[in-house]
Amino acid sequence: MPAHIIDGKALSQTLRADVARRAAALSAAGRQPGLAVILVGDDPASAVYVRNKVKACADNGLHSVLERYGADFTEAALLQRIAALNADPRIHGILVQMPLPSHISALKVTEAIATHKDVDGFSVHSAGALMAGLPGLLPATPYGCLKMIESTGQPIKGRHAVVIGRSNTVGKPMALLLLQANATATMCHSSTPDLALHTRQADIVVAAVGRRHTVTAGMVKPGAIIIDVGINRDEAGKLCGDVDFDAVREVAGWISPVPGGVGPMTITMLLVNTIQAAEAAA
Ligand code: GUN
Repeated sequence: MPAHIIDGKALSQTLRADVARRAAALSAAGRQPGLAVILVGDDPASAVYVRNKVKACADNGLHSVLERYGADFTEAALLQRIAALNADPRIHGILVQMPLPSHISALKVTEAIATHKDVDGFSVHSAGALMAGLPGLLPATPYGCLKMIESTGQPIKGRHAVVIGRSNTVGKPMALLLLQANATATMCHSSTPDLALHTRQADIVVAAVGRRHTVTAGMVKPGAIIIDVGINRDEAGKLCGDVDFDAVREVAGWISPVPGGVGPMTITMLLVNTIQAAEAAA
């Protein structure tokens, strides 16, 4: 029997309904949750992402402001804008879209965002809180992956989870979240000599590499949960993930598609984080 599809769009809709309900409750108390999104430069993909984030706010009852600046906007000016938004009581979350132009330090910028408004969860403080098992705002993509794994109804505790990719934004926080859920977490990456050796033992695989067909059918344990974070293009220009979807779905128990898997969840978890920040402020 082919794998169950983990429908990120459907799960997003369920979670967004809860976001909208909580946003309405905050708004009724005169505390509408607010997100500030800053885009510097003219990267077309980033422009699409920020537009989608702002639209998701409007669709679910959150206030949002989009600030767009040219590629020559200075680091000092950006830090000044962040300081103003840190002090703005109508703003509960601040997101500076990455990548930034090379003359701006992404580290300085993420560190300038007030910890309680760090809805991307990219700051050293947020990463440290996750590492230490303390409450905080979680990076949206791995948080969304965790929700997708939980949506299968399968236990995470005691299972072997393999995360492929060690980025600060996905791989590392993902492994920590799985560890916190009492999985045995293994991290694999580009220098892992025999990736299949690990993935074949995995009850849960999260692929976050950015390379097509990184996970093939022969690398998957029958019945496993497969989460595909990759966004790639095949020869025909069609969107695809890191997993060989058609072949792996014949072996896995659950699999997330690309598109329609992790993608919609990332913006949803940003909304969840903004609501969480607004509720904490209230
Ligand atoms: N660029 C690509 N994904 C993201 C994200 O989740 N947050 C920010 N700030 N920039 C990104």
